[in-house]
Amino acid sequence: MAAVLVTGGAGYVGSHTVRELLDRGEKVFVIDDLSEGHAAAVSGTTLIEADLSQESTSSVLDDLLSSEKFDAVLHFGAKAYVGESVSDPEKYYRNNVGGGLRLLSSMVRHNVPALIFSSTCATYGRPQSTPIEESHVQQPINPYGRTKLIFEWLLADFEHAHKIRYANLRYFNAAGAHESGELGEDHRPETHLIPLACDAALGSGADLLIFGSDYETADGTGIRDYVHVQDLANAHVKVLGQLRSGSNSVSYNIGTGTGHSVLQVVDAVEKITGRSVPREFTPRRQGDPARLVAASSKIRSELDWAPKFDKLQRIIETALTFKERHPDGFTEK
Ligand code: UD1
Repeated sequence: MAAVLVTGGAGYVGSHTVRELLDRGEKVFVIDDLSEGHAAAVSGTTLIEADLSQESTSSVLDDLLSSEKFDAVLHFGAKAYVGESVSDPEKYYRNNVGGGLRLLSSMVRHNVPALIFSSTCATYGRPQSTPIEESHVQQPINPYGRTKLIFEWLLADFEHAHKIRYANLRYFNAAGAHESGELGEDHRPETHLIPLACDAALGSGADLLIFGSDYETADGTGIRDYVHVQDLANAHVKVLGQLRSGSNSVSYNIGTGTGHSVLQVVDAVEKITGRSVPREFTPRRQGDPARLVAASSKIRSELDWAPKFDKLQRIIETALTFKERHPDGFTEK
């Protein structure tokens, strides 16, 4: 049986996908530099600690890819803070472009035929129309989005030259936690709305800052498409099956198709916890579009994918369960 390599497999979306792959009996190897990820999130699999942006990692990749037969790579390993990408673009180009290129080069040397890429709705930039179709023009407005789009271009060029097939999965807002309560979101620092709103309600974090109340939306706050992390993981497994069956390269949006405003998220957290979310309105965060909602009919119809967690309330409940079980997050660091 061929193995799969998961880069960034100890991170948030990566670890949920590794769990899904293991549950299906796949042979999984993880490469992660543990700068964001947690070893505890991938117990039960082989974890190789290495940083794709380092030259020395080429030989680590070559050793691994020559030691086993691999038929696919799932590539999550990347930097993903929009704000940091503006203040430290070099880090983003080095990791997200340079590290990705190192991985592709090694895949070429060892004839690994397919790659699934964690891309993002940030590659679209400010949407000209919503819901956003895969064919929407891609004009990212920050270095994070640009590095992700550049890697999509690299994949197209490597397919042309070396026949590596790929899937670009453009995530909307990954949210929630594994329903077992064992895996969840533990970013340091945390910048995402749902965990911050939960922490504010539970009294374990600061008051929530709401970035902007003057957007052209019904309640003036930003709208996003929150998709449960296990639904994202499930999409990867379906796409893996599709690539294994020899299908062409493809791009899919992964979102639910429903948007929720910041205030709707806050209301839901209050209802579920029975506590208020202390909050303060502040000016808009730079680079935040008003509304990002996926048109997800392509993956629904081609792969029969549908979000199992299709209610915001359920997504938030899973995030809260993880926080209750892991008040300090993964505790190994
Ligand atoms: C962003 C990226 C996404 C990327 C993700 C990775 C864009 C458009 N989206 O998601 O592609 O994969 O980061 O980290 O670049 N908010 C508050 N207060 C807070 C935090 C957030 O009001 O303290 C609001 C934001 O303005 C936004 C919503 O909540 O409207 C969601 O924000 P967040 O959870 O940070 O995710 P995105 O920025 O949408």
